[in-house]
Amino acid sequence: MQPLKGLILSGGKGTRLRPITHTSAKQLVPVANKPVLFYGIEAMAQAGIEQVGIIIAPETGDEIREAAGDGSRFGIDIEYIVQDEPLGLAHAVLTAEPFLGESPFVMYLGDNLLQGGIVELVASFREREPEALILLTPVHDPQSYGIAELDGPIGDSAGGGQDALRQVVRLVEKPSEPKSDLALVGVYMFTASIHDAARAIEPSGRGELEITDAIQHLVDEGMRVEPHIVQGWWKDTGRLQDMLEANRLILDNLDARIDGELIDSQVEGRVVVQAGARLERATVRGPVIIGAGAKLSDCYVGPYTAIGEGCTVTGAEVEHSILLAGSSVCDLDGRMESSLLGRNVTVRRGERQPRAYRFMVGDNSDISIL
Ligand code: G1P
Repeated sequence: MQPLKGLILSGGKGTRLRPITHTSAKQLVPVANKPVLFYGIEAMAQAGIEQVGIIIAPETGDEIREAAGDGSRFGIDIEYIVQDEPLGLAHAVLTAEPFLGESPFVMYLGDNLLQGGIVELVASFREREPEALILLTPVHDPQSYGIAELDGPIGDSAGGGQDALRQVVRLVEKPSEPKSDLALVGVYMFTASIHDAARAIEPSGRGELEITDAIQHLVDEGMRVEPHIVQGWWKDTGRLQDMLEANRLILDNLDARIDGELIDSQVEGRVVVQAGARLERATVRGPVIIGAGAKLSDCYVGPYTAIGEGCTVTGAEVEHSILLAGSSVCDLDGRMESSLLGRNVTVRRGERQPRAYRFMVGDNSDISIL
């Protein structure tokens, strides 16, 4: 059996996460202080995949290369593949064809998070040898995703295997009148037959070669496409609310660990304080992660907060938020919550009179004040 390769898609413009993505790739925005992209890479490594290709865009590719490197820190080999224009997921597969060759592969969208990894899915794909294995999950807004219509009995999906008894009848990308609420999750398993399918389809209304259409082509050709309904949670982190929720879900599984320094501080619940962080007269109620070198004083940090490396929180209350490296929140009257601060952002109460709001804010920022 040919070894399985991995393909992670890490291009795209990240328009829904601006302004953060004006200066950084969306796949590098951290969830619980770790870039989203790394969760996908680790899932591949855990499933025994040794060769992973990462699709990058010319604009953000260098940053991705710098972050993930040659893969040695994950125990795998990483090769970078430049997709000159974002012409769709099936176009990305074609761009990666020289790397993938005839190998079966797992494709993982670099801004997606899947609880529980892919070890069992890979085992099932290898054992059953369908042309493609697609992952599905019920969603509330099926118009926003690729949607699958299945027939056959609704299986006991707890075991996973029963789902394979169900047939994929039709796949439609972002249907205006969805026939089901089962969305394609951004993790797919393919054999090399997907390359011909990607060549056979036409660009969609949004001008992209859709992977959804390529899989439909496999179905039309009578090839075996097996569905698997995911049991745990799945998140596409493309928007602020999704990002905060992903942060919450990952922090929920945090193992408490205090390596930093606590002075007159109170820490409750699952809290990680990384080495070199210093808390003075702080109250922290987990789940919370506090990055290396962060300085917290006279403050409260509440559940579901990830404070990045070298951040400062003083005289303030922060909850359910993500602070990227080097940001500071100082002397606020009210509690900051449900917020995402980019790198080196300062939020503070000013001292000058008259009392007024003063901003220096980048394009597409979003500020909400009571
Ligand atoms: C893409 C796929 C869609 C899938 C989704 C999962 O959508 O085209 O079928 O359901 O990823 O995140 P996009 O993120 O390109 O809108």
